[in-house]
Amino acid sequence: MMNQPITRRTMLMATAAAAALQAVPEAMAAPPRRRRSARVEALIARMTVEEKAGQLNLPTFPGATAAGFNPAAPGAVFEKLLADVKASRLTGVFNSSSLEAMRRLQEAAVKETRLGIPLLFGGDVIHGYRTIFPVPLAEASSFDPDLAERTARVAATEATAMGLDWNFAPMVDIARDARWGRIVEGAGEDVLLGSQMAAARVRGFQGRSLRDDDAMLACPKHFAAYGAAEAGLDYNIVDLSEHTLREVYLPPFKAAFDAGALSTMASFNEINGLPSNANSWLLGDVLRREWGFGGFVVSDYNGDLETIDHGLAANEREAVKLSIMAGVDMSMASGLYLKHLPDLVARREVPMAVLNDAVRRVLTVKEALGLFDDPYRRLAAGREQRLRTAVHVALAREAAQRSIVMLKNEGDLLPVPTSGKRIALIGPFADDKANLNGPWTVFGRDPAIDLATGIRAAVRNPALVSVTKGSNVNASIAGGIEAAVAAAREADVVLLAIGEDQNMSGEASSRADIVIPDAQQALAEAVAATGKPIVVLLKNGRPLALKGAVLNAEAILVTWFLGSQTGHGIADVVFGRQSPSGRLPVSFPQVAGQVPYYYAHKNTGRPNPPDKIDPYRARYLGVTHRARFPFGHGLTYGQIVYSALDLGGGTIKRGGTLTIAATVTNRGKRAAVETVQLYVQDVAASLTRPVRELKAYRRIALAPGESQQVTFNLRGTDLAFLGRNGRPVIEPGLFRVWVAPSAEAAGVNGSFTLNA
Ligand code: GLC
Repeated sequence: MMNQPITRRTMLMATAAAAALQAVPEAMAAPPRRRRSARVEALIARMTVEEKAGQLNLPTFPGATAAGFNPAAPGAVFEKLLADVKASRLTGVFNSSSLEAMRRLQEAAVKETRLGIPLLFGGDVIHGYRTIFPVPLAEASSFDPDLAERTARVAATEATAMGLDWNFAPMVDIARDARWGRIVEGAGEDVLLGSQMAAARVRGFQGRSLRDDDAMLACPKHFAAYGAAEAGLDYNIVDLSEHTLREVYLPPFKAAFDAGALSTMASFNEINGLPSNANSWLLGDVLRREWGFGGFVVSDYNGDLETIDHGLAANEREAVKLSIMAGVDMSMASGLYLKHLPDLVARREVPMAVLNDAVRRVLTVKEALGLFDDPYRRLAAGREQRLRTAVHVALAREAAQRSIVMLKNEGDLLPVPTSGKRIALIGPFADDKANLNGPWTVFGRDPAIDLATGIRAAVRNPALVSVTKGSNVNASIAGGIEAAVAAAREADVVLLAIGEDQNMSGEASSRADIVIPDAQQALAEAVAATGKPIVVLLKNGRPLALKGAVLNAEAILVTWFLGSQTGHGIADVVFGRQSPSGRLPVSFPQVAGQVPYYYAHKNTGRPNPPDKIDPYRARYLGVTHRARFPFGHGLTYGQIVYSALDLGGGTIKRGGTLTIAATVTNRGKRAAVETVQLYVQDVAASLTRPVRELKAYRRIALAPGESQQVTFNLRGTDLAFLGRNGRPVIEPGLFRVWVAPSAEAAGVNGSFTLNA
């Protein structure tokens, strides 16, 4: 197979083509070098080494003070923080929810320090500030970057109204191991979808201009490959080839930086023996020299200190030296930069130029945020009216509706009629109020709409809705199953609200198994034994290996953690006010033992047929190498049929375009929104390629009986991949192509030839 290295011109075409097909631009040439700011240079010239070290020190805001800050009696903890500000010992703080406290600190920084450098206020606004949106993995199910941009914009509008300048988001880690708890914070397993969601959320957070008072600096995290933690164990090592790093884990970051993000967070994990905090190849060669990133790098929480436990640094001084020399500009939480940099510079172990570069990058971003012109830009009092407005709440409901994925719906059990049906709402999440927002809800205070409230509000006669807990999340309840069975017997349909609570995913929440907890499985089995039809309303922060009565239920809705409008969003879909339109951004395996499982896997030399067990083939004993519910899967209330694939002439030149068309028809009685997906497979290449790769997708609304022709313009340059020499190549040959409803569905499919 010819191995054609790509010229720079072709690569730029690839970028344009990729953008045209909504793919992600490959690693592009570095943007132009930033013009230095006279104000920043003048400050650097005047700053002492201690003041410079202070500009790189980011402590957390003590939680208690943040929540209960009392301006009249601020307390010793706040007073200490205030003293540090006056001594120019810190560059900002993060996760304060007290506007008054932040104003006090800013006043001290601007008026009571030698140089008056303003502070930067950061925070984890991962899926909403006061209006809480679905967790990012749920929102990715919408397959709609525009929705993600809109919710991010609202999050920034609310967070900046309460003093924050900087968001420790979006989390853009590709995740392919469902055991990893932080899979909930990202956009799932696919590079294209993950990259588009990353860019959309950066645009949403940062808005039109970083100088606007409702703009929030984005911080794509965790750089890099945190989601590749071995065995899905959080904080564990990452061991992978540069090839896979560049093809799978880096593109979402590149997309985020191309969208304008001016900060990033070094990840906790090592890659091949080097913790990111000390990885000058990653932070220097790739991020700055290859990509031309002009923002600053912040460590993750104690990331510099942790190089000691990693077994890299022998002590704190060495940890600081490794970190700042690798390219970590700002130290989060540990205080080690403040403590050791002045001495390291005095002893010339860290060049002054390195320290100046780090300070320069931080001050330049503060200037870009308009903080020198108006340090109180986001600290103005009286902006509470920007929080949780009716428009924001309506968006939260829309996002909740569109994040729900319908896995199955036998006998069209759904939608449930709003009248004339006795409904038994059963399970630990039936009227639970503590697990609606999901992990990483730092600032959300207002109560969310729980499931029982949403269901009762949607039906004509709420008296026909019974609510029975049946079991706890991880333990049975005495008499719980009996009560649930009795309730089911009295009902026409059961809504079974089961799954994970919000402490079972998120940081430091990897699970060694990914099943429904035993107590809930037992509840499901007992309720199913009544023979009543069951709709499973799954609450989950990751893919789950469903089994028994849960898997065999007539209908299953994946409802994730949907935030402020949980109950209404679910009820809207259950009762048909909205047709489910979500698609899985992650594969649901058959059994936990399959993970890491992802659709874009390789074929191997002994592929096992998808629907049977052949001897001496790549599969587990008794388990085929397929998902239970694949990436991209999601049913609607329509009956969708794919037909009439048209591949034009069936050939494409490297610099050419192939128009791919297919007809999608809704043969059902209800309107639907179908997400049509385009996959290709490079059948024979100079390196093995995945069995399928998502190249584009399109959401189309179909009325009952309506047909639409969907076309995709696939360019030769969209078929580029990293060749044996580590550079993008485009290789002529045979390609398979699918226009399909998921990564493992046939849809309509054929093949075309790429000519030299
Ligand atoms: C945490 C997380 C990171 C977060 C930071 C600040 O440990 O890894 O995602 O932004 O600390 O809260």
